Amino acid sequence: MGKLNEKLKDMEAERVLDVATRDGAFIGRLSKNLRRFDEIIGIDISDAGFEKAKDKFSGDARIHFEVMDGCATNFPNQSFDLVCLSNSLHHVSDVPALLKEMRRLIKANGYILISEMPADGQAGASLTHALIHQLDSMVDTAQGIYHHPTYTRQEISDFINGAGLTAVDVFEDTENIPSKNAAIEARVEKAFQKISQCKAADEDQGMEAMARRIQENFRQYGANTAMQYIVFAR
Ligand SMILES: C[S@@+](CC[C@H](N)C(=O)[O-])C[C@H]1O[C@@H](n2cnc3c(N)ncnc32)[C@H](O)[C@@H]1O
Repeated sequence: MGKLNEKLKDMEAERVLDVATRDGAFIGRLSKNLRRFDEIIGIDISDAGFEKAKDKFSGDARIHFEVMDGCATNFPNQSFDLVCLSNSLHHVSDVPALLKEMRRLIKANGYILISEMPADGQAGASLTHALIHQLDSMVDTAQGIYHHPTYTRQEISDFINGAGLTAVDVFEDTENIPSKNAAIEARVEKAFQKISQCKAADEDQGMEAMARRIQENFRQYGANTAMQYIVFAR
C-alpha cells in the first residue's frame, strides 16, 4: 500500500477540495483512505470528465463536482481542511495564481496536498510511465493544448516556497497496482499511433525518438506507475 494512503488513514477532514479533478480519480483515493470526511468537492475548469466522475460517486451524497477555475474559485477564505492537487501542477498555466488561491482556501490548521509525477528521480518500470507522460506533453503542446513538461522535485518545491507556503511533510511514493500498470502498458503500444495522429509530429520535435525510448525502456524494465512527489504544506 502507498505511503500516501497510510497518511490519509490518520487524517480526518470535514471539507475537502480536489482541484483539477478531471474524472475524480484522486477523490477515489481520498474517499477510500481518509479516516473520516463530511464533504469532498471536485472542481475542474472543464466538465469533460464529470460524467464519468458523477457516475463513479453517484452513491455517495458527500461527493460532488463543480466547473470552476482553480485560480479563481468562488469559495470564501478558509473553507477547507484539505485542498488537493493531483498530477495537475503542469496542466495549469499560472501556477503561482493557483497556489495563492489554494492557500487562501485552507483553514488555519488545514493542509494543501500536492501529488505530482516529477520529471526527475524516475527509474526502471516507473520511467516508462514518466516517458509516456513526456510524449503526451509534446503531442498536446504541438496541438496547441497547454501541457507543460512535468516539473522536477526542486521546481515543485520552489513553487510551494514561492507561494509563501511551508512544506510540513515531503515524501516519494510509488503505487504498484496491476490494473493501473496494465493501462500504462496499453499506452506503450499506442505511442507511435499517438504521434501519427499529430500533424505536427516530426523528427525535429523528437516525438519519434521519445516513442522509441518508451518502447525500449518498456522492453527492458516493464511498466509501473511513476513515482509521485508528495507534499503536505500550509
Ligand atoms: C491530468 S488532469 C487531472 C488529473 C486528476 N487530478 C487525477 O489525479 O486523476 C489535469 C486537469 O487539469 C484541469 N485544469 C487545467 N487548468 C485548470 C484550472 N485553471 N482550474 C481547474 N482545473 C484546471 C484540466 O481541465 C484537466 O482536467
